[in-house]
Amino acid sequence: MSLNDVSQKPYDRLAAWLAEDMAAVNALIAQRMASEHAPRIPLVATHLVEAGGKRLRPMLTLAAARLCGYEGDQHVKLAATVEFIHTATLLHDDVVDESQRRRGRPTANLLWDNKSSVLVGDYLFARSFQLMLETNSLRVMDILANASAVIAEGEVLQLTAAQDLATTEMIYLTVVRGKTAALFAAAVEVGAVIAGMPEHQVVALRDYGDALGIAFQIVDDLLDYGATDVAIGKNTGDDFRERKMTLPVIKAVKKADAKERAFWVRVIENGDQRQGDLEYANALMARHGAMEAARAEALDWAAKAQAALNVLPDHPLRGMLNDLAVYVVARIA
Ligand code: IPE
Ligand code: IPE
Ligand code: MG
Ligand code: MG
Repeated sequence: MSLNDVSQKPYDRLAAWLAEDMAAVNALIAQRMASEHAPRIPLVATHLVEAGGKRLRPMLTLAAARLCGYEGDQHVKLAATVEFIHTATLLHDDVVDESQRRRGRPTANLLWDNKSSVLVGDYLFARSFQLMLETNSLRVMDILANASAVIAEGEVLQLTAAQDLATTEMIYLTVVRGKTAALFAAAVEVGAVIAGMPEHQVVALRDYGDALGIAFQIVDDLLDYGATDVAIGKNTGDDFRERKMTLPVIKAVKKADAKERAFWVRVIENGDQRQGDLEYANALMARHGAMEAARAEALDWAAKAQAALNVLPDHPLRGMLNDLAVYVVARIA
C-alpha cells in the first residue's frame, strides 16, 4: 500500500459512509451560525467554516451513534455542536498562538483582528450550547460542558508550560489530553449516549476518543516541524516560534549535551530566535531520534484506541474507526 493509501483511505471510507449525515450536519452549521444583528459574525464564521477542515470530530459523533443502530436525528445536532465547539476553539487558539494560516486560508485574526476572533469564538460557543440543549439530555450537556472546560484548561496549562524547558512528558500529556483529546472523547461519547448504548460500551468509545485524540495531537505537533505549509494548510514552525514544549522538543532537550542545551535555553526560554534556528532545532531532533520516538508514542496511543473498540458490536463502522486510528498517525495533513 502506498503512503497515500494509508494516510487518506480510512478517512475517506468513513466520510463516504457518513456522507448523508454529514450533509445534514453542514446544513445545520450553516443555518445556526447566522446572526441577525451583527454581520461580522457570519463573515468571520463562514470564512473558517467554508474553508472545510476534516470534520473529524462530528464524524466521530455520527459514527458512534450509527454504530449502535441509532435511527433518530439528534446525532446530527450533536455532531454540529461538537464542530461548533471545535471551530470556536480554533478561533481562540489562533489568537493565542498568533497564527496566520488555518485551513489553507489567512486566519480570521489576521484578516479581521483578535477582537473579532475572540468574540465570534464566544458566539459559536454559545450557539453550541443552544444546540445541545435541543437534545434535552442532561447527560449530553454535562459531557460537552465538561469537555469545553477541560479544553480551556489544556490551553491555559500549555500557556504556562511553554518557554519552560523543565516541562515533562507527563505535563505534555496533560496538555494534549485537555486541549485536544477531551473533545475527541466527548464527540464519540455523546454519540453513544444519545443512541442508548450500554454503559461499558460508552466507556469504551470514550477511551477510544481519548487515545485517538492524543495520537492525533502528537502527530499534529510532528507535522508542525516536518510537514509543508501547503500540506497542513497552516504555517509550519508556529510551535517553535511560540516556544511550545511539544513532545519531540521535550525528547531532544532530555538528550541534549551542554552546547545543545544552551541552544534550547536561548531559543525556548529566552526567546532569542535567529535565522537558521528552526533548521538547527530540526537537526537536533533528528540527531536524537526525537521524531521517531514521538511517532512511536503516537502509534502506541493509536493501538490503545483500537484495543478499546474490542467490546463494541460487530459493525462496518467499528472497522472504520479501527482504521481511523491508523490514519491519524499516518496522516500528512
Ligand atoms: C486542529 O484540528 C486543532 C488540533 C487539535 C490540532 P484539526 O486538524 O482537526 O482541524 P480541521 O478541523 O481539520 O481544520
Ligand atoms: C490546538 O492545538 C488545540 C485547540 C484548538 C484547542 P494547536 O495550537 O497545536 O493546534 P494548531 O496547530 O493551531 O491547529
Ligand atoms: Mg495553534
Ligand atoms: Mg499545532
